[in-house]
Amino acid sequence: SLVPVRLRVNGQDHDLQLEPRVSLLDALREFIGLTGTKKGCNQGACGACTVLVEGERVNSCLTFAIMHQGKDITTIEGLGTPDALHPLQAAFIEHDGYQCGYCTPGQICSAVAMLKEVEHGDASHVTSDLMATDVQLTDEEIRERMSGNVCRCGAYLGIVDSIRAVYE
Ligand code: FES
Repeated sequence: SLVPVRLRVNGQDHDLQLEPRVSLLDALREFIGLTGTKKGCNQGACGACTVLVEGERVNSCLTFAIMHQGKDITTIEGLGTPDALHPLQAAFIEHDGYQCGYCTPGQICSAVAMLKEVEHGDASHVTSDLMATDVQLTDEEIRERMSGNVCRCGAYLGIVDSIRAVYE
């Protein structure tokens, strides 16, 4: 049965009637119409569905919409302003950070959160000892920190270049 769910996405409230089992991804795409967020695997393996919840990156296919009431949700549509792309969006264009583009919204949302994590010294997405001594964000570390976002075209060189360009 349907329950009322209010989601705040990109600064705007949306009052929805959803079954409790509806994923955040489906709520965004099917019920709010924000189709920038992509569905790849729908099981937490590809990162195409990455959005920001309170600034943290989340695989929206793995979580229920109803759990995110009262939180600030940001999708790719909410990153820039009407007048300007977000710096990461601009960098992905300038440095060829995509080929087909399907993974790009997730890559960019993930990178936004990832750069914040680096800023705050958060190593939770780094499993190796890459972080141990480096103050510089190396390409290797970018790759590891972005390893939850898969690109089937293999545009990783451009993706890393794009992120590094914004970090520097
Ligand atoms: Fe969510 Fe692949 S669609 S991780």
